[in-house]
Amino acid sequence: MPNSVPQNSEFERSDLTISDRLKQKSASFISTSEHLGLLKARGEKIMLPSSKTLNFNCLTDYALETLNSVNLDKIEPFFDDLPADPYLEGNYRFRRLSRFKLSDASLVKLPHDRLFQSKEYNPLLGNIVREYSELDDALIELEDFKKVLLEFFDFCQVCSAPNEVAVHQIRTVTSVHEIGQPAPEGIHRDGVDLVGIFCINRERIEGGETYLYKSKDSKPILTKILNPKEFLVFNDHKFFHFTSTVKAISSQKKGIRDVFVFTCPGLLPPE
Ligand SMILES: [Fe+2]
Repeated sequence: MPNSVPQNSEFERSDLTISDRLKQKSASFISTSEHLGLLKARGEKIMLPSSKTLNFNCLTDYALETLNSVNLDKIEPFFDDLPADPYLEGNYRFRRLSRFKLSDASLVKLPHDRLFQSKEYNPLLGNIVREYSELDDALIELEDFKKVLLEFFDFCQVCSAPNEVAVHQIRTVTSVHEIGQPAPEGIHRDGVDLVGIFCINRERIEGGETYLYKSKDSKPILTKILNPKEFLVFNDHKFFHFTSTVKAISSQKKGIRDVFVFTCPGLLPPE
């Protein structure tokens, strides 16, 4: 596999429409903020409607679904060689970043670029142009990776005008001596239209609960440990988010939490 990543490389997407692909998926549930309490109370899960993204209210809803059809076995190893995030002290977070767009029937990888958030959205690392290595070519060619990315594009197409998604591949590491912080900036918004968090792996950790809030000082409207294959998608204009610290439960081996964080648009630096 070549080390250099071709710019604007395309991979084939099937000819299926979004609706067709949704029918093929075996995601097991979707909940809006209004429905979740009811579902919890009944201990129920509901099956996804085939037109779920068409019915998704970008302003009021969040989606929480399990992508059962995605096989994580081939994706997991790509989290083992992530570079350390050089902008954080403590070497507990490791990450890569790539951006994609949809062009006709294909996913297109966009030219590599840096990441930028203003201080308004990221008090810790705002106003800093950050540079991360790209996702591995072999990873983005995996069918299971494309499934997850296309899933997020489905939501973006109904909730965001820009046709551009950033994929942050992130591992948070913890030992019994050091906690890991998936969100060191605290309760925040990313400064985009839509955010998705897809869990790949949790091993030997406790904590790492993800929260959604309507305002920074209100009680969370969602509290959820995202387990492997679970995907949370929400409107960044409407919900603040946070993930609590992770702590290792084994003194023998470090604990890890692996996720993809998706945003649309992709937080490019200013010209
Ligand atoms: Fe965030």
